[in-house]
Amino acid sequence: YHLLLLGPPGAGKGTQATKLCEEYDLDHVSTGDALRANKDMETEYGTPRSFMEAGELVPDEVVNKVLEAALNDADGYVLDGYPRNLDQVAFLDDATDLDYVFFLDVDRDVLVDRLTGRRVCTECGENYHVEFAPPEEAGVCDICGGDLHQRDDDEEDVVRDRLEVYEENTEPVIEHYRETGDLVEVDGEGSPDDVFDRIADAIEN
Ligand code: AP5
Ligand code: ZN
Repeated sequence: YHLLLLGPPGAGKGTQATKLCEEYDLDHVSTGDALRANKDMETEYGTPRSFMEAGELVPDEVVNKVLEAALNDADGYVLDGYPRNLDQVAFLDDATDLDYVFFLDVDRDVLVDRLTGRRVCTECGENYHVEFAPPEEAGVCDICGGDLHQRDDDEEDVVRDRLEVYEENTEPVIEHYRETGDLVEVDGEGSPDDVFDRIADAIEN
């Protein structure tokens, strides 16, 4: 499958992508993860870090290269974090075809709680939440024993900026896929397993 997960910051795209990759043996293509791994890469616009720490979009030219490289390495995939504006939609259209476009719908207040409470393993990248998905031992990864940290862009003021950037740039992307009739809207609230069942249901029925 070629699956696309759309949704605001904190909607659970990364969480569901991990589950979908396990269930259907797909590769996870995340522009956010790829950019975090190359935060200090020099580009003609500066480093990705400077944009990401401010909650802004990294320039299309930089992200499109990252996306192309990731798609080239993938066969079946779950794409998350791209496209984030209408120019990226056009680029993606030329680069690949999609089987399903899911939109994870989550209330804004819930998004802020999810993001400010998120903790990420510095070693393996596993996601936790201090309240909703806590590790067995505070600050320590269940899987690899690595230290957990808060992403720079999960501080509350940056979270607010990311949500504004989303509304301005990415809501038109959702509208686009709604108009083409491709958008499958999924209730993104409830437990991660509940949300996963809703997505799997849409794929299998
Ligand atoms: P990116 O990494 O893509 O961040 P995002 O879209 O803001 O998404 P998040 O990773 O914050 O949230 P998510 O939906 O994956 O939620 P998660 O599953 O982690 O992008 C970061 C930055 O990179 C951007 O700001 C930009 O600068 C740059 N960038 C990336 N792509 C770009 C592009 N295409 N163009 C330009 N710039 C780009 O869940 C969040 C938390 O909630 C976790 O703690 C999790 O445990 C918890 N949780 C998840 N599901 C549930 C549930 N059902 N119930 C309770 N808790 C839950
Ligand atoms: Zn870990």
